[in-house]
Amino acid sequence: MKLIQYADILSASRSGGKLFTDEKYVLTPLAKEALKRHNVEILSGGSSMRKIIIAGNWKMNMANDEAILLSKAVAAGVGMGEVKDRIAVMCPPFTALSSVAAGISGIKGLYLGAQNIFYEDKGAYTGEISADMLLSCGCSFCIIGHSERRKYFGETDETVNKRVKKALEKSLTPIICVGETLEERESSRELRVVKKQIAGALSGLSKNDIMKVVIAYEPVWAIGTGKTASPEQAQSMHAYIREQLAAIADGDVSQSVSILYGGSMTPANVKGLLECADIDGGLIGGASLKAEDFLKLVHFDD
Ligand code: 13P
Repeated sequence: MKLIQYADILSASRSGGKLFTDEKYVLTPLAKEALKRHNVEILSGGSSMRKIIIAGNWKMNMANDEAILLSKAVAAGVGMGEVKDRIAVMCPPFTALSSVAAGISGIKGLYLGAQNIFYEDKGAYTGEISADMLLSCGCSFCIIGHSERRKYFGETDETVNKRVKKALEKSLTPIICVGETLEERESSRELRVVKKQIAGALSGLSKNDIMKVVIAYEPVWAIGTGKTASPEQAQSMHAYIREQLAAIADGDVSQSVSILYGGSMTPANVKGLLECADIDGGLIGGASLKAEDFLKLVHFDD
């Protein structure tokens, strides 16, 4: 029997409002109260209720003043009080995290994420950003292993794994990016590539930890190119990723992990993608830089 404490609820509220447990549980009286106050939902016994996550990856865009304007416009239109099945996340550059956090604090269903994290706690690592620094800026999520970081900054499955472990240790929800290049798809290696990335990213994690991660399937050939994967292509890879999660952990765990699609997602194609059984949201680049488009993605079914 697991004892769920106040601190567990607080940490779940920071990372999307879901608390997973694969055991029977009891709540401390304080935790019971916090559950209501912070609108946290407990998912137990491999519940398959997955939240839809619409996350904007701003990449290296938006200086502080622009970031404040964009985040305020999103905050004004997000109106998630009534929409309980989804959350929105904005991932600005590090330099804008604090100012965006100030503008969105208290807005229901709207969370802050970072675009990377370093795996050491502190010290002589010039230019790096620690988990505690992200937490102190109000982050709940953290993108890890984006293909641009793998391509330009030497990120490997091993460093992705270290970052994922650090994020989980500090109760930040990692959004782990995987996806094949055009060359890999054209030579029919996409499944092998994604399987290796998933296994590498999750190596050494407990089932309980795997339940807390978010995966983003971002085929590299679809990023910033306007060539979105078709719903069939994306669904087929998402189902494969879920199979991998079931093999590494178990079926219940695989059913509880949100798997997002990323790569030229726009208001025009979001619906077709999100109607697929295994697509639980999006990680959006270009279209997250305009409040109007991002809000259309968040409310894709209106
Ligand atoms: P685009 O939506 O601009 O294709 O970018 C996707 C992406 O890389 C999100 O992380």
